[in-house]
Parts: sequence; C-alpha cells; structure tokens
Amino acid sequence: MKVTAILLAAGQGTRMKSNLPKVLHLVAGKPMIWHALEAIKGSTTEKPVVVVGHGADEVKKYMSDSAQTVLQEPQLGTGHAVMQAESLLKGNTDLVVVCYADMPLLRGETLQKLVDLQRANKGPISILTVVADDPRGFGRILRNADGSVQAIVEEYVATPEQQLIKELNVGGYCFDANWLWDTLKRIPKNPKKGEYYLTDAIELAVQSGLSVQALVMDDVQETIGVNTRAHLAEVESAMRARINQQHMLSGVTMIDPASTYIEASVIIGKDTVIMPNTYIHGKTEIGEGNIIGPNSIIRDSKIGNRCKILSSVMEGALLDDDVDMGPFARLRKGAHLGNHVHMGNFGEVKDSYLADGVKMGHFSYIGNAQIGEDTNIGAGTITCNYDGEKKHPTEIGRDVFIGSDTMLVAPLKIGDGARTGAGSVVTKNIPEDTLVVGMPARAIKKLERKQK
Ligand code: UD1
Ligand code: MG
Repeated sequence: MKVTAILLAAGQGTRMKSNLPKVLHLVAGKPMIWHALEAIKGSTTEKPVVVVGHGADEVKKYMSDSAQTVLQEPQLGTGHAVMQAESLLKGNTDLVVVCYADMPLLRGETLQKLVDLQRANKGPISILTVVADDPRGFGRILRNADGSVQAIVEEYVATPEQQLIKELNVGGYCFDANWLWDTLKRIPKNPKKGEYYLTDAIELAVQSGLSVQALVMDDVQETIGVNTRAHLAEVESAMRARINQQHMLSGVTMIDPASTYIEASVIIGKDTVIMPNTYIHGKTEIGEGNIIGPNSIIRDSKIGNRCKILSSVMEGALLDDDVDMGPFARLRKGAHLGNHVHMGNFGEVKDSYLADGVKMGHFSYIGNAQIGEDTNIGAGTITCNYDGEKKHPTEIGRDVFIGSDTMLVAPLKIGDGARTGAGSVVTKNIPEDTLVVGMPARAIKKLERKQK
C-alpha cells in the first residue's frame, strides 16, 4: 500500500515577525521542517510533497531533493493547500498523510499509529486529537452521542458551549486518497475567511455516513505548533529535554540536563559524562568514557574515547583517544589531536596535526603545522604562519622541545630531537638534534638525543 505525506508549509507565519520563512527557524539546530520530514519517514512509503507558498524559494532550496514541492499561490486555506498536491499524487498513492511543517515535536511513532488506524478504518479519514486544558486556539472535536466524531469546529466560530470542549484537532490526518481528491472539490469556501478548510472534510464524510476515526494522543507536548517566538522557545526546550532523555537512556550521564544543549544530529557513546552549560552542535560524534564540560562548546567535531574537555571550544576538530584539553583551549577547523595529547590553557590550534603524546601546556598558537610524537610545545609558542598574504606550513619532528615564547616563522622545518631556547625567533629550518637560540635563532651546538 502506497502512503504519501503532504506537509503544509505555505502559510506566512506572520506572528514570528521574521524575514526567514517560519518552517526554516531552527529547533535543536535543525529547521522545523527537517523535524517534520523526519517524523513522516517511518510511516510513509513515497517521497513527501511539501506545499510551499510564503518564502517558497528558500524553503525549496533547503529541501533540495528530499521532497517534491507544489506551490500554493495564493494561500486559500488548509483544504486548498492539500488540493495543490492532487495533480502530483492522484493515482500514485493509496493513503495520504497530511500534517503541518510547524509542529516539530510530533513523533514518527504517532503518525505510524495514525496510519495503522486508517488502514483498519472502513471510512475515509483518521485524525489526531488530544485532550488538553489549554485549547491554544485549536479547532474543537465535536462528537455524536455514540462517541463517534461528528465535525471539527474552529475556535473563532465555536459557540461558548463548544469552546469548553477539551478535545482538540491536532492537525494530523490520514485519508483514503481517492476519497480525498473527490471530497476536496466539495469543500465549501468558508464564508467568513474566504478559505477552504481541510477540517470540513470530516463533516462531509460523516454526512455521507462514513466513519471518521480519532487517535487521542497522550502527550500534549507533541501537539505544540509554532506560531510565535515564544512557542519556538517552548518547543526548543521540550525538544532539548527529549534529546537529553534519549542520550541518558542510552548510557550518557548528564549532571544537569536543563543546562545541557545537544542538537538533534549529535551522537554520544556510553559512559561519557556531560557537565553543565555545555553545547554540542552540528554533526558531532563523541565516543565513550569522555568527560565534557562544564562550559564547553563543541561543533561539527569528532571525539574519541576517554578524553577530558574542560571549559573549551572546538569547531570542525578531531580528537583521538585520551586527549586532555583545557581549561580555555580552542580548536578550530582542521585541528587534529592524537592520542594522549595534552593541551592546556589558552592554546589555539587550527589546521594542524599534533601526533600522539604532544604536550602544549600554555598560551600557544599552532596553525598549519604538523607536530611529531612526544614533542613539547613550550608556553607562548607561536607558529607565525601568515605573512599577510599567504599561510605557510610548519613541520616539527618528533621529540622536539620548543622553548617558551618561541616564534616559529613559517615556512619552516624542524628536525627530530631539536630544541629551541626560550624566546628564540626561528626563521630557518633546524636540522635534527640541534639546539638553536636567539633572534633570529642560530645553531650553537649539536645535541645527543636520549634513546627510548
Ligand atoms: C488548523 C486547523 C485547526 C487545528 C490547528 C492545529 C484548519 C481549518 N484548522 O488551524 O482545526 O486545530 O490547525 O494547529 O485546518 N497552511 C498552508 N496554506 C494555507 C493555510 C495554511 O500551507 O493556505 C499551512 C500553514 O503554513 C500551517 C498549517 O497549514 O503550517 C496550518 O495552518 P494555520 O493557518 O496555522 O491553521 P490553524 O488556524 O492553526
Ligand atoms: Mg496554526
């Protein structure tokens, strides 16, 4: 059986007061519409159709080929929006799931239950409803004396008595496709707003003696639709709690989940401890047994196992195992720290590889460099990699000892076992096992290297 989702995303989102289309606002680091597309994946068999209107170009650009799109212009209501997908879908699907792109908390499992309900339904519609004290402006579900669904009445036209009804229309529907295409044509234009309401399809089914099934959801949170920035914050906080809960259930310790900000795409291994006030963003993958935070920001990075990251920032960086970093270390794009690297306070590394066992304790900048195993980078060392026009590489061998406050003027190669005296300004390559001092540094003696 073919099941296709239609995602409604054409509305203006006026109350967001934003230049950005509403469905592109981020929740847990991903546009709202990404969450909606994720949720429909499990219960549908075909590529979804997104109805776009306001900000259509931007929304289409974001989705590229993850969905088909149809343009709704002008926007004449939810029924009219669904109608726009008919030419694409007629004859190509058995069931149609309709939901809104501004409900990022709606779970895939819930939509799956809705589709299952409709598969078993002899009638043409199943809908999602919820019983809640706060009606949030949602349509009310009217039921017949026998408990069956009779109609949906929008809040602004509901009688005072109907307004008291606590069962609400969430905005998730599953339709028999053939019935839907025929019925959409019969939906009357709403006299007050001049729109075609999808919700009127329910009454049309009931009038024809066909059954409408309702799946009453238990989790009110899932039904929150975003219309304002206040709703956005509410959804963000609920999504954060949900993501954190999932990580905790799979073995991650969080000292204070409320101050732990992990985006939707992050992967974390078991026995990793996340300390408070830590932000883990983007495409980040973290292994097992790490201690991260407090006060750290990690974006688009990969971290091995048993690392410690204290009050530090990493972006586009890679840590192997047992790295000890911080406090106040900064790794920028292309930084790669090998096993057992120690990077202390106020260091910055960019586009560089520090091989296993490198120590860089304090106040250094390493850029466009390759550093060999067990080399020690003294406090205040700087790779002077930029001449105002170009970046130049620095290659430092293994077992090198760079004295405090050394300036390494790139391009430069420093041989294995070399040493620089404190305050050296190195402008020429240093051969293996050579001690250089001064400014500019010059060779003063040949060294004996300790055998390991
Ligand atoms: C709708 C329902 C209401 C339900 C509520 C849940 C109708 C008539 N009412 O009301 O019963 O309780 O959702 O949130 O359906 N959209 C389009 N094109 C349009 C109009 C809307 O794509 O022409 C999209 C919007 O972008 C939005 C969604 O459809 O994602 C819902 O539209 P909205 O105007 O917010 O409907 P509500 O008034 O909230
Ligand atoms: Mg709405």
